[in-house]
Amino acid sequence: MSYERYRAALADEPLPAALIDLDAVDRNLERLLAPVRAAGKTLRVASKSVRCVELLRYLLERGDVCAGIMAYTVTEAAHLVEHGFDDVLVAYPSAQPSDARLLAELNQGDAHVSIVVDSPEHLARLEAGAADIGGTIPLIVEVDMSWKPLGAHLGVRRSPLRTATQAADLADSVGDHPHLHFAGVMGYEAQIAGLQDANPFAPLLNPAKKLIRRRSRPSVVRTRREIGEALAARGLTYEVFNGGGTGSIHWSTQEDVLTEVTAGSGFLDSHLFDYYSDLSFDPAALFALQVVRVPGPGFVTCHGGGWVASGEPGLDKHPVPYLPPGLKLLGMEACGEVQTPLIVPKGLEIGIGDPVFFRHAKAGELAEHTNEYLFVRGDAVERRAPTYRGEGRCFLG
Ligand SMILES: Cc1ncc(COP(=O)(O)O)c(C=O)c1O
Repeated sequence: MSYERYRAALADEPLPAALIDLDAVDRNLERLLAPVRAAGKTLRVASKSVRCVELLRYLLERGDVCAGIMAYTVTEAAHLVEHGFDDVLVAYPSAQPSDARLLAELNQGDAHVSIVVDSPEHLARLEAGAADIGGTIPLIVEVDMSWKPLGAHLGVRRSPLRTATQAADLADSVGDHPHLHFAGVMGYEAQIAGLQDANPFAPLLNPAKKLIRRRSRPSVVRTRREIGEALAARGLTYEVFNGGGTGSIHWSTQEDVLTEVTAGSGFLDSHLFDYYSDLSFDPAALFALQVVRVPGPGFVTCHGGGWVASGEPGLDKHPVPYLPPGLKLLGMEACGEVQTPLIVPKGLEIGIGDPVFFRHAKAGELAEHTNEYLFVRGDAVERRAPTYRGEGRCFLG
């Protein structure tokens, strides 16, 4: 049983400790890659959901159709290039002159580091920085993929570009900037890939979310196809057309226009990914706390645990106790800054000194709380690797 396996692996480790179960990672990798391989595409690994250089390297080396990283800041991209990664797409814009200069510098070597843009202002700022340094910055035009039935906005607030014509206009205008190069398009369907439609913490909303996930697909497919056609009509060629996420990989791989899809969270299966009606992965990233108190019959208290995830506040953003099975958080305290009390199910023997294994809500944010990941295979720690935090790096916190 996994509890005994993890317990044996971490027997001599000081707690809290975070572990990555490589056997589970391998299974998740295969589940994510099978549809990508079948569609003849590649998978770009979302580093925000990993935040550990050695784990990123493991995924790229192990995954036959994994190619490139989707990074979340330019300084992170530079860090990855220093570590030998040579294909990085920064998927969130930056308006900082220092980032524009750094991007130009990074592209002077062998690495290809692109960044998303969605406005003429982004182009002007990147052009100014690149002109200072020389060389060219590859750009990815990001297009909004939200669903707009009857004028509503169902999706996240990312790019203001809504139509194929708007996307092609911006792509066309890249040619007016001597230090910029149009490299491709990104359209991330967050209202499908990032919307949990089987969430036990908000069950009443699940039917509506399921409807949004299903009904918004045709508009995503159509918009992406129209973008491909609009670019072709203007003679604009692209190297990359990126879309998809863990929560949509099975159907986004079927779109001809996409050259690649992205995934990150599915490799580690943080607990928010339990709450999709059509996904199934194996938990692969855990953290262990020690039981330090038995405050009364039917309770134990762990030391630490308040590793709460970003996003709309809610109990689903708290870690969940995972092993041994059956432990439950207390509504009044949940996961606290210094202690996390748990309700012990009848029949479970657990006491002071025992470890409890938790799952974080979000895969990447776990790495912000710990310096090191213990890579476990079977019942042993195979090796250990620093997280970004362990390397002394914090890119967005
Ligand atoms: C642009 C983009 N693509 C893909 C993803 C999917 O990442 P994951 O697979 O970790 O959910 C995200 C997540 O926010 C994203 O921002």
